[in-house]
Amino acid sequence: MADTSKTATLTFDNTSMELPILSPTAGPDVIDIRKLYGQGDVFTYDPGFTSTAACESTITFIDGEKGELLHRGYPIDQLASKSHYLEVCYLLLYGELPSAEQLEHFEFTITHHTMLHEQMQYFFRGFRRDAHPMAVMVGVVGAMAAFYHDSTDISDPRQREIASHRLIAKMPTIAAWAYKYSIGQPFVYPRNDLTYAENFLHMCFAVPAAEYKVDPILSRAMDRIFTLHADHEQNASTSTVRLASSSGANPFACIAAGIACLWGPAHGGANQACLEMLKEIGSPENIPEYIARAKDKEDPFRLMGFGHRVYKNFDPRATVMKQSADEVLDLLGVENNPILATAKELETQALADPYFAEKKLFPNVDFYSGIILEAMGFPTSMFTPIFALSRTVGWVSQWKEQLADPTMRIGRPRQLYTGAPYRDYVEVENR
Ligand code: SDX
Repeated sequence: MADTSKTATLTFDNTSMELPILSPTAGPDVIDIRKLYGQGDVFTYDPGFTSTAACESTITFIDGEKGELLHRGYPIDQLASKSHYLEVCYLLLYGELPSAEQLEHFEFTITHHTMLHEQMQYFFRGFRRDAHPMAVMVGVVGAMAAFYHDSTDISDPRQREIASHRLIAKMPTIAAWAYKYSIGQPFVYPRNDLTYAENFLHMCFAVPAAEYKVDPILSRAMDRIFTLHADHEQNASTSTVRLASSSGANPFACIAAGIACLWGPAHGGANQACLEMLKEIGSPENIPEYIARAKDKEDPFRLMGFGHRVYKNFDPRATVMKQSADEVLDLLGVENNPILATAKELETQALADPYFAEKKLFPNVDFYSGIILEAMGFPTSMFTPIFALSRTVGWVSQWKEQLADPTMRIGRPRQLYTGAPYRDYVEVENR
């Protein structure tokens, strides 16, 4: 629990009040305004939550100035190079790195929850083949509530844990089947002899007609991409999951809401939008035109994969992703990838431009991820589903944390009303 020894004095009109200041482990102090409306009959106003802490959390911390991302205190660059995704899942869910025995049991549990109820295949078949895989994921994950009644009693910690395991385990199967359905290939079932990342690649790229060996370089890169996207404080989709969960909605409905929010191009949809932008730019000589457009207030165009609400320095995930892009493309023999060349030159020119430097706009996690995913053989439409798959552990960890908080109440923001004042109805003949 945060330290509450300090207070802030708020004075307005003929009112003055002392508001507690809560001091965190790391990051800015917060002014506790929970009693503000009751004592002062005023609201605060912060539509984009730029200055608002919506909850207390122990899971992830971002230092935007330093460009630092910690999961339960461990820096992302160390986790990306020394750990692996399921171990990071354990860390996010339970708060500590697992012992060898705990890790083995957790991996066994996740591995043995990867299958979907056979009848769920009919949900996929109800979509058009050209449906965006994110539309399929929203629908199928929401429909899990209809199949897993036993883990929708959110008051039971064990059932919350089972729901968390089911969601982490089944998301790769759902994402892979959405992809298979979109290309008209048969679903490939998960296998218990493969790792989490190997299983996903196998379900995406294997076909019944031939043996598919997962390339260890690709599975390592895939696992690292999962880790880099696992959790990120109270971003838009995580906040959506928390708000949905505050009403007591079942976990599958809450995660489906998070997937829907992530889809937007300002959030998780940026990886698809970024690669499409790089392809539209085409080659380094066209970069100045696009940078000029990004700076033009009259032009809605933005450099996708650049900027961040919190990072005012490099997104540490982008740094790791850039290294991984070089490795994967070299190892795949994708020499002189024009898109990677354009991305690197765009980054160089943008970071040298005063507009981006002054506004502290740096490449974010979405800038390089699409280049790797495309080199691995994924269509752009699968980029955000892979982000959603990776972020599921963050969503369920934050969901579990909120439900375990005895002070949790339904989220119900107020507003600054500037609409019409009270007025009586006017019959149509008198208008
Ligand atoms: C993710 O929150 C998270 O943690 C998200 C995420 C996660 O892991 O969950 O990190 C994942 O969503 C990463 C961000 C992916 N989105 C994009 O790459 C889309 C492009 N970026 C932007 O749309 C924007 O930077 C946001 C949405 C990421 C942040 O928006 P903010 O914080 O609301 O910033 P803003 O829109 O108020 O911009 C501040 C200024 C504006 O100029 P002024 O009005 O002050 O003159 O910077 C400009 C903007 O016009 N600006 C950009 C820009 N991003 C901001 N100008 C050109 N290109 C950009 N990309």
